[in-house]
Amino acid sequence: MSKFYLTTPLYYVNDKPHLGTAYTTILADVISRYYKTMNEDVFFLTGTDEHGQKVQEAATKRQIEPKVHVDEYVIEFKKLWEKLHIDYDDFIRTTEKRHSDKVKKILQQLFDDGEIYKDKYEGMYSVSEERFITQKEAEEGEFRQVKKLVEENYFFKMSKYQSKLIKYIKNNPEFIQPEGRKNEVLGFLNKPLNDLCISRPKSRLKWGIELPFDNNYVTYVWFDALLNYITAIGWDHNEESFRETWPANYHLIGKDILTTHAVYWATMLLAIGLPLPKTIFAHGWWLSGESKMSKSLGNIINPLNLIDKYGVDSLRYFLMKEMVLGKDSTFTIDLFIERYNSDLANDFGNLVNRVTILIHKHFNSRIPEPGNYNEIDLELIGFAKTTPQLVIKDIENLKIPDGIEKILILMRKINKYLEVKSPWKSIKSDSSQRSEAATTMYISADLLRICTQLLNPVMPNKTTVILKMLGSTSIKINNYSTNLVKVGQKLGNGKSPFPRILI
Ligand code: MSP
Repeated sequence: MSKFYLTTPLYYVNDKPHLGTAYTTILADVISRYYKTMNEDVFFLTGTDEHGQKVQEAATKRQIEPKVHVDEYVIEFKKLWEKLHIDYDDFIRTTEKRHSDKVKKILQQLFDDGEIYKDKYEGMYSVSEERFITQKEAEEGEFRQVKKLVEENYFFKMSKYQSKLIKYIKNNPEFIQPEGRKNEVLGFLNKPLNDLCISRPKSRLKWGIELPFDNNYVTYVWFDALLNYITAIGWDHNEESFRETWPANYHLIGKDILTTHAVYWATMLLAIGLPLPKTIFAHGWWLSGESKMSKSLGNIINPLNLIDKYGVDSLRYFLMKEMVLGKDSTFTIDLFIERYNSDLANDFGNLVNRVTILIHKHFNSRIPEPGNYNEIDLELIGFAKTTPQLVIKDIENLKIPDGIEKILILMRKINKYLEVKSPWKSIKSDSSQRSEAATTMYISADLLRICTQLLNPVMPNKTTVILKMLGSTSIKINNYSTNLVKVGQKLGNGKSPFPRILI
C-alpha cells in the first residue's frame, strides 16, 4: 500500500523555535492525524537543517564548534515538539550519516551525468542570504551584507529544466497551492532562469557536506537540505520502501521558501529522474502587528509561554482555527483569549457540562435509554450525520478553519436543541416526559461524542478527556456513526477542561 507522505520544512538550528516555526509542524501533525483516522498509512517527516553559514555563524558567536551547537539546539526542537504533542514518524537531521552519504551519492550521480559543472563566477553576493544575487537585486537594496565576489564554483544546470517545469506546473494544477502562489512561481519562471551555484569554497564556509568530487568545497545548504525529503525515506531508485513513499503528498512550507521548493527542488528532482511531489502548499505568515514574526525582528512569541499558561490544545486549536491557509494571520493574546472563550469555553465547554451534569444528576451517571424520536430529534440527527463527511472534505482541501467551523456549527445546534427541549424542566416529572428527557440526553451525548472525535486531531489531549467523561473510550476515533454511546454506560467524572479565561 502506498503511503500518505507529508513533510514540514527542516528548521534552522541557528536559534530556538518560535510560534511561526511551530505552526507548520502543528499543521502537519493535525493533517497527519486526520489522515490516520481515515485509515491512511501516513508517514510524517520533520527535522532540522543543520549546515550552512547561518548555523556556522551562530556557533562562532557562542565560541563553540558547530557540531556542539547543533546537538544542543536540536534538543530544543525535539522538546517543543513533544510538548506540542507532535506525533511525527521520523525526524531527520542533515548532519546524520544516513543523509550526508545519500547527498554525496546524488551529487556524484548528477556530476557524472553532466548535470553539474565548474565555472568561474563573478558577481554580487549576499552574506545574509547566502547566495549570489543579480545586479538588479543588489540595486534594489533588499539584501543585507552585499559584497562583490569572484569565485570558481560548481553549478547545477537548473536553466535546462525551465520550460519542462513551466509545462508541468500548468498541467498539474494541484502541484503548487494555493492558486496565487502558483501564479507567483509562473511569474518568476517568466524571466530567464539561471543555473544554481551549489558549492561553497571551504575558505569561507567549512560547515557543510563536502562535495564528493572536489574536497575544496562544501555543498550549498539548500542543495543539501532539500534532499532530506528523499534521503529520509531511504532514497535509491530501486528501493521498494522508497517507491512506496515517494512522491510526497504534501510538502508544507511557509511562503518565504516557495521558490527554493517549487523551482530549486522541482528541477533537482527532474535532474535526478524522480516524479515531483503531488502538492507543495505554501501557507502565510503569523504576524506580530504588521510584520512577520521572526527572530531577526525580535518580535517572536515563544510557544512555551502560551502552553504553560493556557495549555497545548488551546494553542493548537487557535492556530488551526484562525489561519486560513495561504493568508497571513495576526497573533495577539486578546484574539487568542477571545477565540478560546467563545469556541472552547462557551460552545464546546458549556455543551460538555450541560450534557454530563444532567446525566450525572438525573440518570444516575449512566447513558439513559432513549424513547421515540420526534421531528426535532430526527432533524438534528439528520444534520449531524452529514457533518463528518463535510469536515473530512474540508481537511482534504486544506480548509482547516472551515472544517473546524462545521464541527462548531453542530455543537451550537446541539446547544440550541437542548434549550428548545429543556430536559431540565421535564426530567423530574411523570414517566412519558421523563422518557422524552432521556431521549434528548441520549441524542445530545451521542452527537457531542461525534463532535469530540472530529476534533481529536486538533486537540488530542482534551478530547480524550471529554470522551472519557462521556464513557466512550472504546469507540474507534474514526467511527462517526450515530447511536454508538451505549445505554447504561457509566460516565466518567470531571467537568469541561475549558474553563473560561477571565480577562
Ligand atoms: N531551513 C530552511 C528550510 C529548509 S527545507 C528543506 C528554513 N528554515 S526556517 O527555520 O527559517 O523556517 C522554517 C519554516 O518556518 C518556513 O516554512 C518559514 O516560512 C516558517 N516560518 C518562519 N517564521 C514564520 C512566521 N512568522 N509565520 C509562519 N511561518 C513562519 O527556511
